[in-house]
Amino acid sequence: MTRLQVDGVPVELPAGASLLDAVHAAGADVPTLCHDDRLRPAGSCRTCLVRADGRTVAACVTPATADLTVDTADEGLRNLRRDAVALIASALPPHALADSAHSELAETCRALGITAETAADGSTRGRDESHPYVHLDRDLCIACGRCVRMCSDVQGTFALTLTGRGADTVVAPGTGGAWAESDCVSCGGCVDTCPTGAITQPGPGQGLTSRQTPADRVRTTCGYCGVGCT
Ligand code: FES
Repeated sequence: MTRLQVDGVPVELPAGASLLDAVHAAGADVPTLCHDDRLRPAGSCRTCLVRADGRTVAACVTPATADLTVDTADEGLRNLRRDAVALIASALPPHALADSAHSELAETCRALGITAETAADGSTRGRDESHPYVHLDRDLCIACGRCVRMCSDVQGTFALTLTGRGADTVVAPGTGGAWAESDCVSCGGCVDTCPTGAITQPGPGQGLTSRQTPADRVRTTCGYCGVGCT
């Protein structure tokens, strides 16, 4: 076991844990827009910054090592995390922050006091509604890569990739072209992990992520995929 302190609270974690695990074990919280506990960490959004023995690091990709003193709470750190979230939001159209019940980004902005005025006007990258079960609003994509990692590492489908450069980076089918012509198997994993509502499930409850639509728990044939074959 690894013992360290977070905001003065002693925590004990198994080997291989991250500083984000330590933060949560201490009852603290930081934004985690590119992280999902089901996925390998990417460390790309920098919204989970903490201080470990005086160094400012991304908690999700930093191993929890013995005797570290971790700080999440000082004002400078809060401002750094808020600036990271505000920078991400500033590239999105106002509707990205409109519905905090259905968007982790909108909920994070609401909690940090980042308002819709922070976001840029306009909608320029368009939508892909070619697929019957998965719709993409490219203007809401923050290129966090959660959908890509869910599709490849958890579902084993490898249907998605990130394309473009810099601020124009966006999720797309790996085959190019429309989502309906991709290798997507309609498992819904990308819908489930998307933190902004860029990828949604159409139909009843249109525009909602799968977290907000009713679901039955079933025993699946292969035991790991979200398609639900029984
Ligand atoms: Fe840690 Fe994005 S959640 S860098």
